[in-house]
Formats: sequence, structure tokens, C-alpha cells
Amino acid sequence: MTAEVRFRFDGKVAIVTGAARGVGREIVRAFADADARVVAADRDRDGLAETCAPYGERVTAIVADVSAAEGAHAIVERASATFGRVDICVNNAAVAPHAALLEERAEVWDRVYAVNCRGTFLMTQAAARAMIAGGRGGRIINFSSGAAQRGAAGGAAYASSRAATETFSRVAAVELAPHDILVNTVSPGLIDTQPKPLPPSMAERLAGRIPNLPLARPGRPEEVAQLVLFLASDASNYISGAVVTIDGASSAGTRFSGVVVDDDTRYDWVTGRTRAGR
Ligand SMILES: NC(=O)c1ccc[n+]([C@@H]2O[C@H](COP(=O)([O-])OP(=O)(O)OC[C@H]3O[C@@H](n4cnc5c(N)ncnc54)[C@H](O)[C@@H]3O)[C@@H](O)[C@H]2O)c1
Repeated sequence: MTAEVRFRFDGKVAIVTGAARGVGREIVRAFADADARVVAADRDRDGLAETCAPYGERVTAIVADVSAAEGAHAIVERASATFGRVDICVNNAAVAPHAALLEERAEVWDRVYAVNCRGTFLMTQAAARAMIAGGRGGRIINFSSGAAQRGAAGGAAYASSRAATETFSRVAAVELAPHDILVNTVSPGLIDTQPKPLPPSMAERLAGRIPNLPLARPGRPEEVAQLVLFLASDASNYISGAVVTIDGASSAGTRFSGVVVDDDTRYDWVTGRTRAGR
């Protein structure tokens, strides 16, 4: 099957944070391929240069920290100064260290919240102000994680920070609606963003986990990028305040390879099953 979905963003300007690798790099690629002008932001100068290299002047790179007010302002200012407007802001930058609750350090907790929550807030506020000044409305797309819905061990800081992002985004959607700014949250399941080869312990963990995913594979960063393009496009003009899951059904359940047979005799009258010898 071939999917012939093509979004076009010519004349539009998109900011993408966390653009040096992973999902962010693919979002930059997808917007650039769809003729947008892109501001690609990250703390990682080298990775960012690699992301932006193919696109020439269509994509401008800025090394900045989204968790600092100066960083967020500099990113939004770059969009206005270079391309004259801001239409879309994708707050993809995040950190995801995991630690057992009893070992968790307050400094790490604070850093996770600084990037994942404060960064999303600062970017949303700065981008929304620029969008309001531009008078053309806009789109803000924030990031959560399937981890926000679970209590998986090790995720006290990360998972709760992503849950906070979801609630923040709902508030932003309501407050910014009068300005025609739509705010949505993308919530991915397991996405294959790790540099290869994987460290042995991680490879082992994934080898146990992947066969149990309903589609028996992790998502690809470019699949998440296509969802972001949809949420930034005119195809989603009435979607705001939503958390959109992209996880191949992994939040719905796990794969089960056995044969399901209802052997419970209590339900014979329901199933109509008759048993030999009865
Ligand atoms: N990969 C997954 O399996 C997965 C699953 C669920 C949710 N997510 C979410 O998807 C998004 C992308 O995930 P990913 O795996 O591509 O992440 P990643 O760790 O591969 O990349 C994150 C990028 O953000 C940048 N960054 C971190 N802190 C920053 C800061 N303070 N300022 C600017 N840039 C900063 C990093 O340098 C890096 O380039 C994140 O929001 C994450 O929470 C990912």
C-alpha cells in the first residue's frame, strides 16, 4: 500500500526544538521537505549542524537551551529575524534519565523538570507572543510520552514531567484559542531513536520488550514527524487541546500469541457450546 499524503508549508515558518537528533531531526527534515522555513534549535552544536546541512538557507540552526528564558527568546527571535514570522512551534526537546525512586537525586529531578516542563512553558509563551503579534494564529505542538500514563519503575521524574506537559498543554490550548493558536500534544510510545550499536544491557531489555509490542516493532522517528506535520497542517484545523498517541497500540495492550479459548463452563449457555458426554 502506498500512502499519498503530502503536506505543504510554503510560506510558513516552523520552530523545532531538540533538532540535533532523533525525532527532532526527522521533524526538521519533514518540514523542510514540505517547503517550510525552519528554525532548528538544540544544545548540541555538532548534531544540529548535521541535521541542518542538507537544507541550505531554508533551515537556520540555533544553539540554545530551552530551559532558560534567554534561550527560548533567542530561538523565537531567530525565527522573526530570519524569516519574518512564526507559524508553528514544535517543543520536542526533552531529557529522559531514569533512576529508581530511592536513588533519584533532586538535581536530576530539577533538570528533567527544567527542560521538559519549564522549557515547554517558556517556548510556548515566547512563540505564542510572537504568533499573537503576527496576527495570523499558529500551532504549538508539545511532547509527552506513553510513560505519562503508567507507573513504570525508574520514571518518577521523566514520566511525571511528561504528564505535567500534557496538562500544561490543555491549559495553553484553552488560553490561546481566542488568538487562533491551536495547542496539541504528541504522545509517542517506544520510538527507535537510539544510536547504534546499543549498549548490551539496553539491547537485552529491548529484545525482551519488542516482541510484546502489538506491532512487534518500535515506531520510526519519521512516523512521529508525519503526525507532527498533520497537527501543523490545515487538515487539523479543529483539533486543539488533544493528546495524540502514536504507539502502535502499545498503550492498548501487549501482544499475546496464545490461542484464546473460552473453556469456562459457566458460559456455555452464552456461547452455545455443547460438550461431549454432558
Ligand atoms: N524516543 C522515544 O522512545 C520516546 C518515547 C516517548 C516520548 N518521546 C518524546 O519524544 C521527544 C523526542 O524524543 P527523542 O528520543 O528524539 O529524544 P532524544 O534524546 O534523542 O533527543 C532530544 C534532543 O533534545 C535536545 N535537548 C535536550 N535538552 C535540551 C535543552 N535544554 N535545550 C535544547 N535542546 C535540548 C538534546 O540535545 C537532543 O538533541 C521527547 O520529547 C521525548 O520525551 C520519545
